[in-house]
Order: sequence, then C-alpha cells, then structure tokens
Amino acid sequence: MKRIRYIFILINISLAFSILSCDRSKDVEKIHIGFSQAMTNDDWRRSMNNSMELQASMNPEIDLQIKDANYDVLTQIKQIDELIADSVDVLIVSPIQSKPITAVVRKAINASIPVLVVDRKTEGQQYTAYLGADNIEIGRNAAKEIIASNRKDSIRIIEIRGMAGSSPAEERTMGFQQVINQFKNAKIVAKIEGDWEKESIQESLRQLLNNDIKVDYVFAHNDRMAVGAWEVARELGIENEISFIGVDGLAGTNGGIQAVKDGILKATVLYPTGGDEAIKLALKILDNESIPKNNILSTTIINELNADIMNNQFEKINDQQDQMEEQLAAIKLQEELYYSQNNLLKITMALLAIILSLTVYSVYSIFAIRKKNRQLELTNEKVTVQRNQIEKIAKEIKISNEAKLNFFTGLSHEFKTPLTLILSSIESISDYAKEKGSRMGNEIELIHNNSNRLLRLINQLLDFRKIEDRNFNLKASKTNLYNFSKLIFQDFEREAMKRNIDFKLTSNNESLDIFIDRNLMDKVYFNLLSNAFKFTPDNGKIGVYIKDDESANIVKIHFKDTGIGIPSNEIDGVFQAFFKGSNNRKNSSGVGLHLSKEFVEMHKGNIEVESLHGTEFIVSLYKGQAHLDESEIISEQDLVDSNIIDFSSDQLIDDNYLIQAPSKNKEKYSVLIIEDNKDLSLFLKNKLQLEYDIHLSEGTDAIEKAFETIPDIILCDINLPDKDGFEICEILKKDLRTSHIPTVILTALGNKESYIKGLQSGADLYLTKPFSYSILIQSIKSLLYNREKLRYYFTSNIHKIEEINSFGDIEQKFISQLNTLINDNLGNSDYSVENLAENLTISRVQLYRKVKAIMGISISDYIGNIRLEKAKTMLENGSLTVSEIAYSNGFSSPNYFSTAFKNKYGISPAAFRKSV
Ligand code: FRU
Repeated sequence: MKRIRYIFILINISLAFSILSCDRSKDVEKIHIGFSQAMTNDDWRRSMNNSMELQASMNPEIDLQIKDANYDVLTQIKQIDELIADSVDVLIVSPIQSKPITAVVRKAINASIPVLVVDRKTEGQQYTAYLGADNIEIGRNAAKEIIASNRKDSIRIIEIRGMAGSSPAEERTMGFQQVINQFKNAKIVAKIEGDWEKESIQESLRQLLNNDIKVDYVFAHNDRMAVGAWEVARELGIENEISFIGVDGLAGTNGGIQAVKDGILKATVLYPTGGDEAIKLALKILDNESIPKNNILSTTIINELNADIMNNQFEKINDQQDQMEEQLAAIKLQEELYYSQNNLLKITMALLAIILSLTVYSVYSIFAIRKKNRQLELTNEKVTVQRNQIEKIAKEIKISNEAKLNFFTGLSHEFKTPLTLILSSIESISDYAKEKGSRMGNEIELIHNNSNRLLRLINQLLDFRKIEDRNFNLKASKTNLYNFSKLIFQDFEREAMKRNIDFKLTSNNESLDIFIDRNLMDKVYFNLLSNAFKFTPDNGKIGVYIKDDESANIVKIHFKDTGIGIPSNEIDGVFQAFFKGSNNRKNSSGVGLHLSKEFVEMHKGNIEVESLHGTEFIVSLYKGQAHLDESEIISEQDLVDSNIIDFSSDQLIDDNYLIQAPSKNKEKYSVLIIEDNKDLSLFLKNKLQLEYDIHLSEGTDAIEKAFETIPDIILCDINLPDKDGFEICEILKKDLRTSHIPTVILTALGNKESYIKGLQSGADLYLTKPFSYSILIQSIKSLLYNREKLRYYFTSNIHKIEEINSFGDIEQKFISQLNTLINDNLGNSDYSVENLAENLTISRVQLYRKVKAIMGISISDYIGNIRLEKAKTMLENGSLTVSEIAYSNGFSSPNYFSTAFKNKYGISPAAFRKSV
C-alpha cells in the first residue's frame, strides 16, 4: 500500500513536469544574429536597422542584437569582440572605416563565425559575404546624370566626398571619375573631403564659393551633404545657379526624394540600405545555402522625372512595412496570449492529470482500506472473542478466588467463637485457681499461651485479607509511648528470663505521648518482638530503644536483636508478603512483617531494617497529630477490637466499667442471649446465671422471645440462621415494647463497616470475638447501671420527665403518650392500667415491664406519683379544698389521698398547705 502510494506520487510529479516543461523556448532553436552598426545618427542607418528588425521579427527564432558604435572605430572593434565572445551564429558588420575593422572581422571568421559585411567593406575580402549596392556604379550614375542633363560646353563640378577610408567614398569617386573623364567639357574643379555629415563640408564649400569659383554641379556622396551644400549656396544666393546631386534617395520628409521633389536636389542616386536582405542572407548562410560572395543591391537615379513615382513607391512600401509591423505586433500579442493560455492549459492539464490519478488512487485506496477494514474487523472479532474468553476465565478465577477467600475468611471467623470459649474457660479456671489459692498449672498456661498464639495467627490472616481489601481504618488515640511499649514488653519478659536473653526497654523520653492506633501498633510490636525472640539464640540480646529526636518531629523505635540476621541479598524483600529468609528454618506465615509495614505506613510512618550482626528494625513515627486525618483520630481507647486485650489486664478497662450498680435489687435482671453456637450460649448462661435471669434463643425465635420476656439486656450474635443480628437489633429497637432494652452485639466481624452497621441498627455496644469475659460482664453491668441511674433520675423528676431528652425517640414518644393519657384521665378513678395498656396498644404485662424498665417503678406507682405531684401543685397554688383536690386527681377518697401523700412527702396534705 505504501509502495503504491509512492509510485502514484512519482507518476504525478513526472506527469506534471512533462506537461509543464513543453515550453516554446525548447521547441524553437534560437538563432543569434549580432549586428555591429557603425552609427545610428542618420535616417539611412535608422532605416537600415528598422528593416533588419522587421525582417528578423518575421522569423521568431531570430534573436537580433544591434550594437551601435556611434562613429567610434575603437568602440566598434570592442563591440565586435563582445559579439564573438557571445558566440553569435552570424555576425553582420557595417564598418565605420575599412582598414581598422579588417582584423576583428578576420578574428570572427577564425572563430568560425560567418561574417556578412554590409554597406562599407573591409580590406582583402576576408569575410563570408558582402551586401550592398555597387558604389562604383553609383558614382557612374551620378556622373551620367550630370552629362545627360547638360549641354553646356563646359561643366564645372565640385565633388564632395564621404569619409576617407570608407569603401563607398572611394568607390563612388572612382565610378564618378570614370565617366567624367570621358567628357572633355566636364571637369571636377574642386574636391571637398567630408565625413558623410553636412557640417563637415559646409565651411570648405563656403570658402570655395566665396572665392568666386564657377560651379555648375555639386556631386555629394550622400544626400545629407548635398542638402548641406545647397544650404551654403542659398546662403550665398546662388542656389539656382548650381545643380546638386546626392546619394541615398531615402523616402520621407527629410529624405533625398523629397529634396528632389522640392527642387533642392537635381537628382539623387538610390542607395538601398539592404537591412531586410542582410537578415535573409544571414539565414541562408546558416542554412549552408550557397550564396555569392558579393551580393549587389540594385540602384537607380531619381530625378524630377521619377521622383514622384519613387516617392509613391516608397510610401507604399513604408505603408506596407507599417502594416506589417502592426500585424507583427498583433501576432506577437496573439503569440504571447497563445503561450500564456497554452501554459494555463498545460497547468490545467497537469492538475487534471494529477486529480485523475489521485481519483484513481483514492478509489484504489477506498477498496484497499475496505479490504484492510474487513481484515481488521475479523481480527477484532477474534480479539474480542479471545478477550471475552479471557474475561470469562478471569471472572471465574476471581469468583473461585473470592469463594476460596470467603471460605477462608469465614472459617477464620468461625475459629474465633471456639477460641472465645477456650480463652474464657481458661479465664474461669484461672480465676477459680486463684480463688482457691492454687498455682496455675503449666498445662493451663500452655493452653492459654497457645490459644492466644492461635488467635494472633488467625487475626494476622484476617488482617492480611483486610489489608488486601484496603479495609482498615486508622483509629489513633493519644498514648504514652513508653507505657504502651512497656505493657507489650512485659508479655515477653518471662520468655526472656527463661532463655536468659538480655531483654531491655529504654527511652530517652518516658513521658512522650504520640497518636497511635493501639490495636495496630500492638500488632507491630508483637510481630517484631516475636521475630526477635524466634531468631535470637538463648543467652542473646534483644533491646527496644525509644529515641525521641527532640529537634525533629519524629520518634524512632529500635528493635535490635543478636539473632541470625537476614542475608544481605534478601533484605530488600523482607517486607513483602510471604517472605521467608533462606536461613529461616522455622515455621512462618510470612505476613507478619508485611502487615507491620502496612500498619506503620497507615500511621504515615516508616519501617526500615538493617542486618549486620543480628537484625535491627527501626520504626519511625511522627509526633503530634498533624499528619493524621481528623477521621483517623479517636479520643478514647477503642473497644471494638477488645480481643487483643488480655483477659487478665483489667487495668486497660475504662474505669466506668468497674462502677457497681448502686442498688442491690432483690429481683435479678434478665438477660436474653441470642446465639446459635450452643457451646457459647451455654457457656454464657453458666457464667451469667449466678447474677442474672437468663433467656436463650438460637436466633429464629429471637424477636418473639424478646417481646415475651422483655429482658433487661440483650446479647446478640450477628451470624444467625434466620435474620442476622443487625436486623433483629433494628426490629427490637424500633418496637415500642423493646426499644428501651440495651443491646450488645457479639460478633467475629471486626471490620469498621460491621461496627457502623451495628451502631446504626441501634446496638448500644459492639464486642468482637473472642471477647474477654471480664469486658463482657463489665459492659453488661455498665449498661444496666446507666439505665439504673437514668431510672433513679426519672423517678425523682417525674414531673419533668417529658423535658428530659435522654431516652430514644420511641421512648420519648411513649412517655409523652403515656403522660397525656394519664393527665387526661386524672379525675377518673375508674381509669385502670388495663385501659391505659389498651389505649397504648400493648399488653398490660408489656406496659408494666416497659415502665419498670424505663423508670424503675410500676405503672400504678407512676400513675400515683403523677396524681400526687399534681395534687401537690394544686395544694401550693389553688384554692380548692383537700377533698376536692383528692377527687379531682382520681383518688377514691380523701383519706386514701392523705395516706398516700404522707407516704410520699412525709407530711399530710393539710399540713403541707399550711406550710406553703
Ligand atoms: C549613412 C551614410 C550614407 C552613405 C553611406 C555610406 O551613414 O553616410 O549616407 O550613403 O553611409 O556608407
């Protein structure tokens, strides 16, 4: 395709060139004729030039160049030299004088340039040809005219000659004398040497005539000098006594013929210029035609007898010449027009040819492109099919991968519930052992440590998945770095002691607080220290050094060991997932360091490793909180990932959780446990039943159970057989009967989305498995205590209950509805609790439990309290009697009112009124 395009371009270019290059200059071979003219100051010369040009213009191939020597011999030689140098095809020369021009004419001949000599000759006939009239004959004709027209006995003649040294002058004299000498009565009395112009002879003639020389005839070698002689004669008043004869016989107002007609000249001898003949001869020479050496132009005498005829003839010739010139000019114009139009036509043709070939090329291209397109479409289709197949395979792989990962994640989550049980059981056994004062056996410690280890591994695997899914959110809180480090440090102290490892924690600033996500940073510490202990032999050294760079905004935590180190060629890959050093013979998941790096980078920090003698990890963290986003900062320690908190580390639990409920109820609080894992629900039941009434639901009947029992607290799992925990929680929180019940969500789903979902569903607390039993129990206690505090506050502020907005919306609405119904029926002593429950569209028991749960008192006490409060206000402000107040507030008798009033306020209504 590309090659074809180039060929087309080449064809077009050459086509355009070939059409455009058909120029006339190439078609017609130019003939260069150079003419060296002696001078052009007189009409005869001008006429000669004109007739040459006219003749030349009739031959378009002739390029005629005329050089005017202006009477200067040296100039003429120089100009002829130039024409020789130009390599003219034919050289025409009209010499000023014969001798001086001979050599340069010979030079031209030697240069193989044909030379045509006109009018005047050079010496020795060294030229190609001569053209001109026979000047001897002209001299003779002039003499004959004198003899013929004069019968006098003596004829006295003055001869005025042309320039000496020019052949016409010599020859005319010669011819003239030949005839005159034959007649005895004719005599040349004087000769005047002229130079062809009248000025050259007038003074000499004047002198002659003034000397009273008797003259009958003056023969001048040309008309100009003859007329000049006549002028001198007229000057002297003798013009009629002398007859003047000239040569040339030019037509026109200043010509010799006119002078004959005017009676100035007696006669003139025709001397034709031969300009047109000279061009014709030149062409013949070039055509190698044989021509005579001397080409003689005919001459004749013009006198009063034939002057008119000659004049008419010449005028006609001149007219014809003029017409020819006009026609030639018109032809030239036409020719120019023709050539310009011809060029235009050629350009148009060239363009047309280009357009045509481009059209052909375009058509060809269209077909070629179509063909290519079809091929492309086919290839495209193939590619699309292949891509779809690849996409399908990729999708299948993704789905299968997802399924595997989900299975794996689900399984990992599933591990958490049994682990919760194991850890909580160990906790119980440990507590029991402590109570009994017996030492915890090695086996228990072993179970505890390994369960924790298992838990960490599972968490690590789940963290890895979370990191892969970019599912982590930083929750940084202000933490004393040294204390935080020390807590983790202590976890490893026992192992260090056992293995005689020199294990130290030091800091140059123990009071430094920084913002870290304790859960994540705990994992980083644990990983780095576990690795250090794993690869450091007994009796080795492990150090944690916190170096606060006071001058910078950075703190560096160095974890340095004297372990086996990392091979230097592998050190770059140490933080990559599934990395395992070639010198590492131990079991290792290979995700710990990868996660540590990710966690540190989530803090905008940096982790580096150096390994020379042993290994040193350096964690660099920013001080302050400017590097963190607002959403990444929490004010209190996060409880979501409470699983990392050791069950024995009660010191980490917020103080609020340790507050005991203020009043010891005789009645036990009830707890509804919604959990489909039988082991866990039984474990919780066993643990909690000492203090609480326990109701169990495996999930499918959770809502019914909640409505039925209206428990004081609900513990709910998320992954349940029917509705999930979020849905159950949401339904219960939206229902008037159960909306007040504090709900704790227990789940293995530790991600932020689940946590938010839990809170959105209305859950009061969200604990991730495996949770610490101590945290759970403290959380239950805390929630109940808060409810109790609220209840206590309400019972002592019954009248303000609607203004206190600490309940949820549903509770607020319920209380306001309840109050409206009670107030509307205050005067109606028959208005019972049943009526009230009916109006609120709930059962009597549910009403009772709801009011009891919210306000801690029975509904009848609540109604009684409202009545008494109202009565109290009426006693304070109104003018009604005690009896009237008792009845108007629904008390069946004034006595019952007085007893109830005294029970509540310790004073009788009458006494109270008096005291106001
Ligand atoms: C023109 C002229 C003519 C004369 C001729 C002779 O220049 O002077 O008058 O006949 O030259 O060469």
